[in-house]
Amino acid sequence: MSDSGSNSRLPGFYRLPLEERQGELARRAGLSPEDLALFVSGGIAAAGADRMVENAVGIYAMPLGLGLNFLVNGVDRLIPMAVEEPSVIAAASNAARLVREGGGFSADADESVMTTQVELREVADLVAASAAIAGARTEILAMADQALPRLRERGGGSRDLEVRTLPGQRLVVHLYIDCRDAMGANMVNTAAEAVAGRLAELASARVGLRILSNLSDRRMVRVSGRVPFTALATDKSADSGATLAHEIEAASRFAEDDIYRAATHNKGIMNGVDPVVIATGNDWRGIEAGAHAFAARDGRYRPLAIWRVESNGLVGRLAMPMAVGTVGGTLQVHPGARLALKILGVTSARALAEIIGSVGLAQNLAALKALAGEGIQRGHMQLHRRAVEKR
Ligand code: MEV
Repeated sequence: MSDSGSNSRLPGFYRLPLEERQGELARRAGLSPEDLALFVSGGIAAAGADRMVENAVGIYAMPLGLGLNFLVNGVDRLIPMAVEEPSVIAAASNAARLVREGGGFSADADESVMTTQVELREVADLVAASAAIAGARTEILAMADQALPRLRERGGGSRDLEVRTLPGQRLVVHLYIDCRDAMGANMVNTAAEAVAGRLAELASARVGLRILSNLSDRRMVRVSGRVPFTALATDKSADSGATLAHEIEAASRFAEDDIYRAATHNKGIMNGVDPVVIATGNDWRGIEAGAHAFAARDGRYRPLAIWRVESNGLVGRLAMPMAVGTVGGTLQVHPGARLALKILGVTSARALAEIIGSVGLAQNLAALKALAGEGIQRGHMQLHRRAVEKR
């Protein structure tokens, strides 16, 4: 295998025996033999599993592979992906190579602002209660911050609040809290519980639920990527590339117009997103819930990414909530997850979100390209056969 100089282009990597791939990874990501040994055993020991969940009886492992060719905001990234489905990693790597020819992914994640909700029931006067809570904004935010002293030390903390009216004399108060590099579920739940009593007092109401919302639409990632027509060419002509680009746009429009197709289109995006979320020890159920709620935010379920033919190539744009962390939670107890972050070379939650969004967009491109061209079964089944033959 030739070393191309950059650290995510590894032509021929898939042809190497597994041990040589591990060696290459160790060399590029600075992993020790102990680190590699950890991956062979699933990234976590039984004792660790016992500390994580109740009634632990063992470990359930998944294959871990490397997504290649990813250039995100000008930085090369090796992508650890924990996934059981054949062809996902190859497809992502392939699509990342195409986007790389157009300059790579441009991604931008919001500050790590989580939304937590306090439900207020039996509100006597909705208008007066909303006004009283809005008037006590500074007091409530300070109260939330007091419950999270360590987050304040790290530059995070409450940023705003909002009052929403629900049917049946109910209000719901949203607290927006910047969790910095943590996913932040525990912190924002703590804050919601800390302020609930005072909110109920202000609203002359009864406290209902106090819990985060997984529709983290203040914690979005937006990604775009361009593929030059030449990179899509199926023969020597750029024309064939432009033709395929139009077919990919048509596939995108199908998802934009039809909820049945949109569900599968988004499943393809999650094929890229979830493996990285899982490998880095993040809460993939939360990410899934947020993604689909966001897709349906205006009453109609829509694709999380769309593709258009533009003058200089095929351009994809993705937007979705991405509440992931690089500290706390599972990361404290799962050495494999910490190692995955080391391979990625990220220390901030925002950088991680930007990478995950890029993998989602790449995976979507790969699926649409296959569907618009030769059909999904050919490539997919080839890789599936390979997996079966290797048994
Ligand atoms: C298969 O896991 C995912 C696809 O169905 C996604 C799509 O249809 O866009 C190929």
